[in-house]
Parts: sequence; structure tokens; C-alpha cells
Amino acid sequence: MRLIKTSVFLVVTLLFSCNEKEALQTKITSPDNTIQIEFNLSEKGEPTYNVQFKNDEVIKKSTLGFDLKEAPSLKENFTLLNSSISSFNEVWEMPWGEQTEVENKYNELKLELQEVSELKRNLTVVFRVYNDGLGFRYEFPEQENLSEVIITDENTQFNLAGDHKVWWIPGDWDIYEHLYNTTKLSKIDALSKANHSNLAQTYIPENAVNTPVTMKTESGLHLSFHEASLVDYSGMTLKIDTVNFAMTSELVGSEITGYKVKRSVPFNTPWRTIQIAEQAGDLIESKLIVNLNEPNKLGDVSWFKPTKYTGIWWEMHLGKSSWDMASGKHGATTKNAKAFIDFSAKNNIGAVLVEGWNTGWEHWIGFEDREGVFDFVTPYPDYDIKEVVRYGKENGVEIVMHHETSAATETYEKQQDTAYALMQSLGIHTVKTGYVGKILPKGEYHHGQYMVNQYNNAVIKAAKYEVAINAHEPIKATGLRRTYPNTISREGLRGQEFNAWALDGGNPPEHLPIVAFTRMLAGPIDYTPGIFDIKFDKYKTENQINTTIAQQLALYVVIYSPVQMAADLIENYEGNPALQFIKDVGVDWQKTKVLNGEIGDFVTIARKEKNSENWFVGGITNENEREMDIAFDFLNTNDVYEATIYEDAENAHWNDNPTAINIRKIEITNQSNLKLKLASGGGFSISILKK
Ligand code: NOJ
Ligand code: CA
Repeated sequence: MRLIKTSVFLVVTLLFSCNEKEALQTKITSPDNTIQIEFNLSEKGEPTYNVQFKNDEVIKKSTLGFDLKEAPSLKENFTLLNSSISSFNEVWEMPWGEQTEVENKYNELKLELQEVSELKRNLTVVFRVYNDGLGFRYEFPEQENLSEVIITDENTQFNLAGDHKVWWIPGDWDIYEHLYNTTKLSKIDALSKANHSNLAQTYIPENAVNTPVTMKTESGLHLSFHEASLVDYSGMTLKIDTVNFAMTSELVGSEITGYKVKRSVPFNTPWRTIQIAEQAGDLIESKLIVNLNEPNKLGDVSWFKPTKYTGIWWEMHLGKSSWDMASGKHGATTKNAKAFIDFSAKNNIGAVLVEGWNTGWEHWIGFEDREGVFDFVTPYPDYDIKEVVRYGKENGVEIVMHHETSAATETYEKQQDTAYALMQSLGIHTVKTGYVGKILPKGEYHHGQYMVNQYNNAVIKAAKYEVAINAHEPIKATGLRRTYPNTISREGLRGQEFNAWALDGGNPPEHLPIVAFTRMLAGPIDYTPGIFDIKFDKYKTENQINTTIAQQLALYVVIYSPVQMAADLIENYEGNPALQFIKDVGVDWQKTKVLNGEIGDFVTIARKEKNSENWFVGGITNENEREMDIAFDFLNTNDVYEATIYEDAENAHWNDNPTAINIRKIEITNQSNLKLKLASGGGFSISILKK
């Protein structure tokens, strides 16, 4: 990531003695003056803050603080020792992403607090305010009376100004693979979602939600709450107070330690973030989360190339083949892998994922003791890994490695060097990891500090072997892809796989129009789109995809990931003219523009390919059919383009007629307008190639 320009101004630094503290700076606004944050100490010396957007109150007076183990809480009796305001402005470059250049422009307010009590412990609160939202974090500076903190609760409050409409998933400590709920804040009832037949792990102890959680106020403002730079700390859920319309941070815990976080001082917490937007689509264009992370620590990462991929994967979820060999229908054979390589090479797809290639799958799930089951280096006898890799290279197709850790963390940690070294020796640069099942050691949760460190350490270690990670059952994305670009993508939502086997009917048509404004704000998603055989009755009559085929195509543009799967079986693609879109569509972008969108209803995104003049547009709708007017004013003036439109046919419908698609070509310029009809559960995609 090249740094294009940076400037830092220290505007005011004031040092006052206690009796002069009225004069200290405690207010800050965004560079465009629309967002204002005010910090105060209450009469009891509690740190408080509030946030305003134009004339709207966003966060009413809310308190900040911690409960600690075997030490008094850090929450009151503070005095403000010092405060400073500074400004920062840079443009940095993403090695791959939704856009090449990112503006990182903010004003910062730093408040240095000290207890008036005997202990005189110090705590610093830092606010950064951008035009698209804000982040704040706690900093524990080096000090005499505090060398280690054991946090039993972080009590960061977000007192909302009303009973907003909220798109939420439960604050599960173990998994994010829930359907979104749309309710008023006062009606959030996460505990009613606690019994889930589809999940290999789940634990919802409180009426809390996971982040990003997005909401809309009565006055039409959009807010999304999340965190940035989650490093050596626990994931944050937000506990809901349905009476006072408030949320308080509830960190993920551990049955083993009984606390939430243990750190030695000095250290900084992750940023607590609030994205603020008048238009829903601006939430998607916001770069707040990556901006609040540190710059690239890996240097040159050009060994990874964004790519489309196919894989020996959907067939297991359909039951056509299996991961293990004992079943007699092993999917990961040399022959099958070569068929996927041939198909990919023919269709401009750069990689093939092979799941079930390594021994151990006979024992991976349901087994209490999963440690030692997988070694990540021993292939099944019918899979000649060297030959598959060689054949791939000959055809310009890379293999994507698969490490299903089965959440047996000690085994994986021990094996990582050997496993990544094998990949490096084979010239494989991407691994899909999985963490299905309850975490071993028992008592840890997927989203607690122990696992945050597992996921982050894996990424750091993998980088040494030029390996990039696409994690499933991951910790949420918090923008660390800026610091460690090899954390390329992840699951962390109800992915396409649920459509193959979920007992509750799969992902409803509203799922992705919500995901685009919630989960996607955190970072890239490995959703695995592109299923053409929507009903797959040959394998399962009870399950299906709940979108039209045109929407499956639109997802290549709407959902961002630098690894984008063409997930269906080869035989379902062969001969289908819609495959041309998957063949043409880019995976790495110079620019992204959200053309329209309402949370849970619809969204249309246009993206310009990184190294070409081509644009791709994708639009999706929920269960409601609708018409859309698309203006192409984002194209270059004076250029003429050939647009291929893939749209729902007249009578298309996600359930009644999902594969009815109409493909047509037209010439367009930046003066063109197009009216498109989206079916119920439908969508459209357009490839716009410069003539
Ligand atoms: C769960 C992942 O989400 C899925 O993609 C994978 O096939 C299985 N685990 C097996 O690793
Ligand atoms: Ca999963």
C-alpha cells in the first residue's frame, strides 16, 4: 500500500493544572463540520460523551469505563489532566479492494484522564471524527499503579436518541451465521434466537446484538455501530436496553478464565465506531473501518492476486460427493480437480478450491476430541496434490488450499508452519480455513480474546509463507486487511451454503439486501455466489436458492471480495449463456459507486475494474419486484461502451420461475438512461466494456 500524501497538524495542545480545567478542549467536529462530539466529566468524575449530526442528536450523554478483576472499577473520580486536538489527512492505496485510493481525513481529540483517588490511575480517551462517522478508543498509558488489567466488563454506552429501526443478528459468542431481524430497538429479543438447529456452535448469553448493527432513525439518518482494529482483545457485542433505547458494550468472555480481556499496560483497545449517513448507500462507500487501522505492515504483497475461483465444494453441500473417503463418494480426487482446472482455464477463472483433500474427514464433526484429527499435509490416496498443482500451473490455474481446523486450535497452531511451508513449496498462495464446532480448548468461544489472537496470529504467520487467508467461522472483520492485506476475505455470515441444507428454508430474498448494509460494512465477504441450478431437485427437493439466476450474477458486483467463487457444479454452467457474465466480471476495483439502496429492500452498485476501462453494475431486490432507473453518468464523457444486460425475464420470480433470464446488448454513453425491471427476489447485472 503506497502512501500518497500525508499531513498531520497539531492544532492545539494545552496543558493546564486541575483548577484551570474548564479551559481544556473537550469538543471536536468532523472536517466538514457535520458531526460534533462533546466530552464531559460528570459530577462523580465519570467520563461521558455525546454525538450530534447537524441538528440531530445521535448519541445522548453516555458513560465510558471498565470493571476490573481484583481492582476498583475504572469509571469515576477522574479529572481531565490534559487535552489536545489534531488533524490528519492522507490518501493511501489499497493493494486490492473496492477502490484504489482511500482518503483518510479526520480530526482527533485526545483526553488524558487521571483518578483523583489514591491510585491515580491514568486512562486516555481518543476520538477521531471523519465526515462519514467516528471512532473512539481507550488508551492505557504506561503508569506506576497499573501494570496489567484484567477486564471483567467494558461499559461503553451508546444512548440512542430514539427507538430506531434496527437490522440485527443476536450477540452470539460463537457464530455470526444468523438471519437478520428487522425490529424497533425496543423489540430486540436476541435470546429468542438461542435454539438454532443449523449451527454447529452457538451461545447467546444476553439480550445483545452483534456488530455491525445498522439502524435508521425517525428523521431518516442511517447509523451503523461496529469496531475497528480488533487486536488482542475480545469481540464486542452490544447489550440492548429496550426501555431506555441504549446499548452497552458486552465483551465476549471465556469459561476458562472467567474474565473478558487480560492485557499488560500500555495498550489500546479497539476503536468503537459509528458510521453516520444520510443516504443508506453512503454506509457502503464509507471507508471508516479500514481508515481506523494501521497501515500495511507486510510491505509488498503482490504474490497474492485477486481471483475468481471454482471448487470441489458445492457438491459436498448438495450430497453429490463427500469430504471423506469412507463414504465411497470422495469429491477431492485428482480427476475431479483436473476437471475443475479445465473448466476454470476455459472461463477466465484463476483458481480452484479443493476441500476434503487431506485425511481425517471421517472424524471431523461430532467428535468430542478433534485435536490431532487433521494434519494439513497428508492427502487422501486418490488425490495427487503435486500432480494437481502441476496441472493447474500448466493451465494457468492456482489451487486454493483448504484447512478445516474443526476448531481444534492447538492442533492447528502446531501444524501451521509445516502446513504453510507445504503451500509455499507448491506455489499455493491462498488458504480457506474453517473453524466448525465448539472451540477446543473447551470453554473458549469463537469471538473471545483467545480466538481473536488465534485468527490474527494465523494471518501474521501465513504472511511469512506468502499465504493469504479466507477464514470461515471467523472472527468478524474489523479493517485489519489494511494492516495485514493477506487477510483477504472471510465468511462471518449466513453464506450460500445454508441454501443447500438449512432446515429453515435457507436465506430469504431480503437476506442480501440487508447484508450489504450490515455485515458488508465490516469487510470482504466470501458468500460463494453464482448458483445457476437454483432448485437442484436432483440432489435435494427440500432446499433451493431463494433468488433468481439474474440476482446470482449481480452478487459478483454487489458483494465485495478479492476471491469470488463461481460456486455451482461444472455441469450446471456448461452451455448456459449467463456464464459469460462470470467470465467477464472483474474482481479488483479502481472505483465503487453505490447508485441506489434502501436497507433490506434493494441496492445497486457500480464498480470500475482496476486495470481496464470496464465497468460492472449489479442490482438486487428483496421479495418485492421493482423498477429501477439507472443513469450511466459515471462513465467517461465521449466514450462509447457495449453494455450486456442480464436481467430477470418478464415472468421471472425467485420461487416460481427463478432461471428465466433475458440477455441483451446495447450501446451506451454517459448520457444513457436505462429502465430495468427486477423480479421478486431478482436482480440484474451489466457488463460495460469500452468499445
Ligand atoms: C464450513 C464452511 O463454511 C464451508 O464452506 C466448508 O465447506 C465446511 N465448513 C467444511 O470445512
Ligand atoms: Ca460456515
